[in-house]
Amino acid sequence: MKRVCVLPGDGVGPEVVACAARVLAAAAPGVELLQADIGQSAFAKHGSYLPESTLALMRDCDSSLFGAVSSVRDDRYKSPVLTFRRELDLFANLRPVKNLIALTGRGPIDVVIVRENSEGLYHQVEAEDPEGVTTPRRVSRRASERIVDFAVHHARSRGRKGLCCVHKSNVLRKSDGLFLDVFRERVTVSGLSARDQLVDSAAMLLVTDPASFDVIVTLNLYGDILSDVAAGVAGGLGFAPSGNIGPEHSVFEPAHGSAPDIAGKGIANPTAAILSAAMMLEHIGMAREAEDIVSAVHGTYAAGHLTVDVGGSNGSGRFTDRVLEGLRQ
Ligand code: NAI
Ligand code: MG
Repeated sequence: MKRVCVLPGDGVGPEVVACAARVLAAAAPGVELLQADIGQSAFAKHGSYLPESTLALMRDCDSSLFGAVSSVRDDRYKSPVLTFRRELDLFANLRPVKNLIALTGRGPIDVVIVRENSEGLYHQVEAEDPEGVTTPRRVSRRASERIVDFAVHHARSRGRKGLCCVHKSNVLRKSDGLFLDVFRERVTVSGLSARDQLVDSAAMLLVTDPASFDVIVTLNLYGDILSDVAAGVAGGLGFAPSGNIGPEHSVFEPAHGSAPDIAGKGIANPTAAILSAAMMLEHIGMAREAEDIVSAVHGTYAAGHLTVDVGGSNGSGRFTDRVLEGLRQ
């Protein structure tokens, strides 16, 4: 039996994860769901934002489903997300964005952003001096090769045709230049159509011509920002699922944060969390159950049952009820 570690976290995290867990239980009743603490509730109970017991359960399970955490402005705070990404060697961040509602004034979007998840600016090492603060930014050949190979494999296995490397090598000549060199070396033998784009114009094109992108492979910070841009094009952050993937472990989560502005109101769009659960099932070898969930979500939107964030009247729970009805059909 597959075992999944469920990490609700803070803000809307517990709300959307509860919806995703209901859908998981219905679509894949054989999967055992084991809950663990992360974020502020973990700190209150265990004195740590990511207790060792949580990390141990994440290691022990087949995968994890995570909501979100709120970051805390405190010198003792270490991001639990960065910690589990590092500790579990989750080097790839897979962020597919597809519009499930009609978009006014622009073409459809169906893009997969493959974000390098282990280096760049994501280490929280910031050296202060009397004049300011310096943050080192590492780009290594090994991490670049790993993520480009992951993107090539993903694109090929999904029958996707085009791979675009997004970078800023006109300014960051050595670091982003290395990433681009690796991309060119690895992609020429892949048989995929390949191009590259500077990150600033890529951001614009994602808005003005989203259909011009298929799979994007990019550095850590650019992937973080561009995936929110893509989500915005598709209708909002409630539409962007994601997976943190490594050779042995994986953690799936909606790409959004804890959304404190809407937490507790029951209106968070659970779509990203539900689709993250589907991505997780596919990753652990339950592709049929994953496909059932995706079809039920698509069917719910196609029937016009919209969530509050895109002008509908369905709160998180009612939308999930509709998805469950779709699953039963
Ligand atoms: P956010 O993603 O939480 O929210 C941005 C905007 O999108 C807000 O207006 C929010 O209401 C809306 N939104 C987000 N998810 C939604 C959903 N499911 N349905 C409807 N609307 C949704 O980003 P923000 O406000 O910049 O950060 C809030 C907190 O979340 C911060 O403490 C941040 O550090 C944390 N965060 C945590 C992440 C994680 O746990 N992986 C990722 C990103 C941010
Ligand atoms: Mg983000």
